[in-house]
Amino acid sequence: MYYGADYNPEQWPESVWPEDIVRMREAGVNMVTLGVFAWSRIQPDEDTFDFEWLDRIIELLHDAGIAVDLATATASPPPWATAKYPEILPADENGAAYWPGSRQHYSPSSPAYRRLASRLVTRLVERYAKHPAVVMWHVNNEYGCHLPQDFSDSARDAFRKWLRERYESVDALNEAWGTWFWSQRYTSFEEIYPPRRAPYSHNPCQLLDFRRFTSDAMLDCFRMEKSIIRAAGATQPVTTNFMGPFKPANYWQWASELDVISDDCYPDPNDPESFRTSAFARDLMRSLKPDTPWVLMEQSTSALNWRPSNAPKAPGQMAALSIQAVARGADGVMFFQWRQSRAGAEKFHSAMLPHAGTGTRTWSEVVQLGADLGSLPQLPAGAMDARVAIVVDWENWWAVENPDHPVEFDYLAQVQRWYGVFHRQNIQVDFVHPSAALDHYQLVVAPHLYLLRSADAANLAGFVDDGGHLLVTAFSDVVDENDQFRPGGYLTQLGSVLGVALEDFGALVPPGSSGPGRKSARVRFEEEAFNGTYFAEQIQTAGAEVLARFTSGYNEGAPALTRNHAGAGQAWYLATVPDSSGLGLLIGQVLDAAGVKPVLSNLPESVEAIQRGNVLTVINHDDVPAAIDMSGTDLLAGEAVDKVHLGPFGFAFIAGHAGPPNYSAAS
Ligand code: GLA
Repeated sequence: MYYGADYNPEQWPESVWPEDIVRMREAGVNMVTLGVFAWSRIQPDEDTFDFEWLDRIIELLHDAGIAVDLATATASPPPWATAKYPEILPADENGAAYWPGSRQHYSPSSPAYRRLASRLVTRLVERYAKHPAVVMWHVNNEYGCHLPQDFSDSARDAFRKWLRERYESVDALNEAWGTWFWSQRYTSFEEIYPPRRAPYSHNPCQLLDFRRFTSDAMLDCFRMEKSIIRAAGATQPVTTNFMGPFKPANYWQWASELDVISDDCYPDPNDPESFRTSAFARDLMRSLKPDTPWVLMEQSTSALNWRPSNAPKAPGQMAALSIQAVARGADGVMFFQWRQSRAGAEKFHSAMLPHAGTGTRTWSEVVQLGADLGSLPQLPAGAMDARVAIVVDWENWWAVENPDHPVEFDYLAQVQRWYGVFHRQNIQVDFVHPSAALDHYQLVVAPHLYLLRSADAANLAGFVDDGGHLLVTAFSDVVDENDQFRPGGYLTQLGSVLGVALEDFGALVPPGSSGPGRKSARVRFEEEAFNGTYFAEQIQTAGAEVLARFTSGYNEGAPALTRNHAGAGQAWYLATVPDSSGLGLLIGQVLDAAGVKPVLSNLPESVEAIQRGNVLTVINHDDVPAAIDMSGTDLLAGEAVDKVHLGPFGFAFIAGHAGPPNYSAAS
């Protein structure tokens, strides 16, 4: 179990370093991420490298038994680099440069940036590849953060090259992009630009391809650094820090290139529900590389600096959120950063060692958490045994949020709502790509799978055929991988397994917007009713039974929720986006049918329960104490219990809980 933080010793006089080391040991720190933003310190000008300070701090850490996750420092080019090679700078949609003076001001496509970054990494790994203190390599930092897309000339050139590789001929590109529309026919790749500012809507496949290209361009930078690390003979695991569900980078594609997944996660202490979004991020990280523990690479000990209001964490909250990561598959709990900065934009950002010193609540909680993590039982990797999977696909995310659709909605927010219903009920969930092996799951939920490749559709249909329960929601199976309609209407691939046909999307005015028009459609579901939002699709059954109907609007009396028995399984289709009461009702029924159960029931709203192997972790995310009836061995107290008392933000690890399993045979 790693415990530590980003460590930026270059911000401090060397006389402070020995105290840092003493305090790290006091806190139980066993790994630090070193040098994330140290490029200008390591390479003060193009021809000078200064590693001596880095040698000294690495030796100090090593002598103290503290391991190093060595950063490659490539995320913030020094002023000399951008002054000499201004083509490094990225540009916005208008072609205007993002200037130096902050960080992350580089175009991932810039040959000059790549050349300078590879030289830096080469020198760094030559020196430290075999250093016994270095246990991990931390490539760059948060790829895509601050600058989700770069529209510079470097990006233009690289985009053209990328398109040439993807399509081989401009005719193939014209076909994929549907360029007879609006006279967009290209005669050469040289005529193509990134989707820079234009009078009106861009070609949707151009937007989609530019998203693909952007993710690939950043991934190429990662690959470039990783290959330099490997070429130097370094054998340590290589990571780069992810940012939870981050739209610009297709993490499914990235995950296979990382040896260890690591994540930065900053739930807002002002939001009492933020522990659910952090749970979402943790489950996503675990799902990206199942069976391999991931590392919580950054979180805050308390307040941040970058929200309009930066509340401190409540007493105990830092530990509760850290334990949540461990329970959901992390084998490392790290912070940004070790010692609070004295200068710079992040000087109000909390740290393990606060500016106000060691007499603080933060410091005592840091020391306590270090001790708790040090005494934790070894939890088995990847043993969460989730029986529910939610389909997440970055390409779909990009396409479904393209403009000019029946109604705008936030894909991630909807996926998080589905996750939230399961989380509230302590149902364990994995995330999957639509092409993933699904045989372990009893229920697969595919929210708004607008872009659906044929092979993935066949995979989902096969899952039902083999006895699984599949729930597909509105605005799914609409386009192919080029964001084009398929011949034959909508639901052309899943229609037969769902037993429905789709005629119209029935767009509603998004909830919360002020314009005229219908915001919801009433739906009758058994003895209850709920509101459907965003879509009130016009569907007809083609074999499916109707479980709920619209009771208002143009399609009054038409099906809103259907179920089809197909092969050995069942396929459900939901023609709207239910409000929260509707979500609860519906999921209750789907879970019953699929035979999926919570790991623990009847818990207070603020308590979550997670099963990893034979250990149940219960965490209270509120300042009101909670008591839970459950028996087993409390692993931290080392005693048998038949009731677990959780203080404010308290947690417990209970082994051998004799409860029912979290699934049974599906009905
Ligand atoms: C990100 C960065 C860190 C720091 C934190 C502040 O996660 O990686 O360098 O800026 O945000 O919250």
